[in-house]
Amino acid sequence: MDRTLVIIKPDAVQRGLIGELIGRLEQRGLKIAALKLMHIDDETAHTHYGEHIGKPFFAGLVHFITSAPVVVAVFEGPNAQPIVRKTMGVTNPMDADPGTIRGDLAVDLGRNVIHGSDSPESAEREINIFFKPEEILTYSRDVQTWIVE
Ligand code: RTP
Ligand code: MG
Repeated sequence: MDRTLVIIKPDAVQRGLIGELIGRLEQRGLKIAALKLMHIDDETAHTHYGEHIGKPFFAGLVHFITSAPVVVAVFEGPNAQPIVRKTMGVTNPMDADPGTIRGDLAVDLGRNVIHGSDSPESAEREINIFFKPEEILTYSRDVQTWIVE
């Protein structure tokens, strides 16, 4: 089954939006395979956001993502990675459609409340950064037949 990494960013945790954001992804029909509250350290932030090293916003991005606790999660389901990204809305909340997480709950590019892996390859890489294999659970839900044909 397809899996993707989600980070409920520090701004969302501070604003009390953990339940709202996880709820939206659960309600979409995705299953939580792993979940934890953590404080991202500098090294992990550099590894996770390595593609952005050298860009003008990199230092601010690392400062922000390490500034307070986050919730990291693995969500599972058919096409989990693109489905999470669509549910999140585009990177800049100003351009995000109403009905998406960023379009409903954020206004600023640097405070866009949620991260989702941007490709299946990124998902695999990012899941390995934040979770050991034994922290990712395989289990069935009876409701699954009402979500996926
Ligand atoms: P994320 O990785 O956080 O899920 O966001 P994303 O894929 O939609 O966007 P990405 O291009 O990976 O950028 C990562 C985060 O960096 C901040 N950013 N600032 N000032 C800027 O031009 C700029 N561009 C990106 C955003 O907070 C974005 O979420
Ligand atoms: Mg990204």
